[in-house]
Amino acid sequence: MGDLLHLKEVDSTNTYLKIRQGSLPHGTVVYADRQTAGRGRYDRVWVSQTGGLYFSVLLKQPYNPFLPNLTQLMALSICYALEELGLTAALKWPNDVQVNGKKISGILSEAVLEKNIFQALVLGVGINISQTDLDQVGQPATSLKALGKTIQTEDLLLRVLHFFWQGYPALCEKGFATIHAAYNQRFAALGKQVSVRDGDKTISGLVQGVSPRGTLLLQTAQGLTEIYIGDLQA
Ligand code: BTN
Repeated sequence: MGDLLHLKEVDSTNTYLKIRQGSLPHGTVVYADRQTAGRGRYDRVWVSQTGGLYFSVLLKQPYNPFLPNLTQLMALSICYALEELGLTAALKWPNDVQVNGKKISGILSEAVLEKNIFQALVLGVGINISQTDLDQVGQPATSLKALGKTIQTEDLLLRVLHFFWQGYPALCEKGFATIHAAYNQRFAALGKQVSVRDGDKTISGLVQGVSPRGTLLLQTAQGLTEIYIGDLQA
């Protein structure tokens, strides 16, 4: 675990680390009370007013084929931290965390390249704690407060990081297989008919499971299809 930086306000904790990655050590974590330009997947806005947990982790290591699975390890770590609070957390592939079918956390992973060479990965996490503006999110969302749970922001951050760093060495060495069983136990969409959108491409099918590589297996009209990336809609 590296340095922990706390900011009252920042545009985006992901942007903060991406800009400074050259001078910050591996494992640096930055969290902010609010973000003025919080970003979500697929260029969406991540509403980031006071009351939520907004943090990013800087991972400076040589490129490794298992790097995409680190978001799934992070999502699982969030589930563990929520379960410690007595909640039942579920995973929406690839890395959203839900409680009672509503989103409570999302993860944005961004690679930093220089002259096309991989330098670092920034993993950014938002967790809804006590915000009151969840109706602006654009999809069913919930928060710890709405679920009747109270925890200090930094305590939640430290619990999530504890689980993340615990699983990190094994995941980097052996990949998604090290969390496959734990991920599957919390995987909500098994057996459901879903659509997966990536940009302007949408694939529909019946969810067969998550493969030992962390990819989504869909039975489509064209046969069994392995999906590497996308936004799942039930
Ligand atoms: C998503 O579900 O679309 C991903 C949301 C990720 C939000 C977090 S908040 C901390 C970090 N900084 C950002 O600008 N985004 C991520």
